[in-house]
Amino acid sequence: MPTDKCRAIYCLLRLSSRNLFNHRSDSNFQYLYQFRGFRNHIDTTSRLLEPFLAHPKRNLRICFHPLREDMGSSLVSAKISGHTNRIHCRFFGSGSTVTKRNPVFSTINADDIAQFKEILGEKYVIQDEERLLAANTDWMRKYKGSSKLLLQPRSTEEVSQILKYCNSRCLAVVPQGGNTGLVGGSVPVFDEVIINMGSMNDIISLDKVSGVLVCEAGCILENLVSFLDNQGFIMPLDLGAKGSCQIGGNVSTNAGGLRFVRYGSLHGNVLGLEAVLANGIVLDMLGTLRKDNTGYDLKHLFIGSEGSLGIVTKISILAPPKLSSVNLAFLACKDYVSCQNLLLEAKRKLGEILSAFEFLDGNSMDLVLNHLEGVRNPLSPSTHDFYVLIETTGSDESSDKEKLEAFLLRSMEGGLISDGVLAQDMNQALSFWRIREGVPEALMKAGAVYKYDLSLPVEKMYDLVEAMRIRLGPAAEVIGYGHLGDGNLHLNISLPEYNDNVLAQIEPFVYEWTSKHRGSISAEHGLGLMKANKIHYSRSPESVHVMASIKKLLDPNGILNPYKVLPPSLAS
Ligand code: FAD
Ligand code: MLT
Ligand code: ZN
Repeated sequence: MPTDKCRAIYCLLRLSSRNLFNHRSDSNFQYLYQFRGFRNHIDTTSRLLEPFLAHPKRNLRICFHPLREDMGSSLVSAKISGHTNRIHCRFFGSGSTVTKRNPVFSTINADDIAQFKEILGEKYVIQDEERLLAANTDWMRKYKGSSKLLLQPRSTEEVSQILKYCNSRCLAVVPQGGNTGLVGGSVPVFDEVIINMGSMNDIISLDKVSGVLVCEAGCILENLVSFLDNQGFIMPLDLGAKGSCQIGGNVSTNAGGLRFVRYGSLHGNVLGLEAVLANGIVLDMLGTLRKDNTGYDLKHLFIGSEGSLGIVTKISILAPPKLSSVNLAFLACKDYVSCQNLLLEAKRKLGEILSAFEFLDGNSMDLVLNHLEGVRNPLSPSTHDFYVLIETTGSDESSDKEKLEAFLLRSMEGGLISDGVLAQDMNQALSFWRIREGVPEALMKAGAVYKYDLSLPVEKMYDLVEAMRIRLGPAAEVIGYGHLGDGNLHLNISLPEYNDNVLAQIEPFVYEWTSKHRGSISAEHGLGLMKANKIHYSRSPESVHVMASIKKLLDPNGILNPYKVLPPSLAS
């Protein structure tokens, strides 16, 4: 690139770069600036500054649509070894796995209902069909159970009494948070009792010196974000489903999300928790200490175990301080290798201020533009094969800005970035995030989706997307997006409708490929029902054996979220 052009770009960058949190709403402010070539003045508007994290468009409110005829599951009765069993066949998303209802489990009767009403009060024992339909159906409308009962405890004591009773009667249960899970873990497979945690939503305390927040498991993530924002803190995790998902669900899935690259795993941020075991015993592990090496750290068993070992009722979590300077760039790269090298450079040059590094390919962008209203490509009319979002968060406005600008300039000069814009206010930052966070929603609108959430070495990640495209041909739309900064690929295959022949082309190929490259078949969504039988692709037989032993120790009757996480043959 000619040096005079570089210099000019640099000057324009300096002029245009504004701090997202401290930007004043100047009238006629040129808020969209493209630093490829000299295309600026795209739009001029005066806007009111809205709190970045409390914008309604960032909330993904979950609404349920009726199940499509061709999706879901079918229940059939069949005679096996002389017994009549209900066989639950799943044809979508995970291969044609057949799950058989465990005959050990009882079915609910009138005495049970009376007992639950005694424990919870009538209002919190729900048998209403409409509410049950929603609670029986997952976010993707792919997995559907047939539970006849939803319980809404309001205290740990009530959870304890419910579980104690269910255990004594051998009634299977499904803990449910915001029901935004993507692996069929949050809904019943058959008639399990749904224990919804939404009524346990108190914020208990915030220590403003240590930043430790203690709250109940049913708090919606976004409510915690807003609460902390007012107190000068942030949550160490952020995800597109924040308007509905609950912190208990986040902890139980060990959710990753958009800030993982900066704040790391919930295994590090959760300082303590309270959980109720299958037999009703309450485990108080609600420590608030950063360092505590007193014996085995049992809380980790409950982080990411998807409700299969206990019900999480309270959590203490380390909230980082809210920093004043946030910047967001939406960039285009000509190929995947450039994205990869950009990540390497971003880690080196942005270091401690890097707070998100997300990517989506051109096909993901097309999907979002075609299916979500009001979304536009900030780099249009040009189209690109890869897009990257880089967010920085720091405490020094001018040096953070300088750092980011210098980095972007160098990356442009080096050919790693082919186009890009810097958000100039909150609304613009939100509109950039909307593109990335909107991919799952766009996929749902496009029709059927086969969803895979993989950890892979960054340099290999996109090879799988390309291999899948070759394998499936034009019949399917294969897209790749995700948390590049964490080596987490979301490989999604979009089709007008579910198709067993296509599925047979995808699985087990996708798992074998991942395993061959020493990746993980679940980076952040968990195993749920979808991948309970696939665990061996990422875990050794010895490890799975130990997991099954732990499950048996903590839940000998197997009542907690059966058929999920571990192969049913091992867990029951
Ligand atoms: P649910 O879906 O209700 O439950 C999930 C699992 O946890 C189930 O197995 C359930 O039994 C168990 N569970 C729930 N609450 C409890 C409890 N209190 N005690 C014990 N077990 C419990 N995930 C990511 O990791 N990163 C992302 O970036 C991300 N983005 C998403 C974007 C969208 C649009 C959607 C729809 C989902 C996304 N997810 C993401 C997946 C999902 O939101 C997360 O897994 C989330 O943590 C689930 O929380 P939830 O409250 O909805 O839990
Ligand atoms: C995301 O990163 O957008 C989520 O994990 C959801 C998904 O994978 O579709
Ligand atoms: Zn994700």
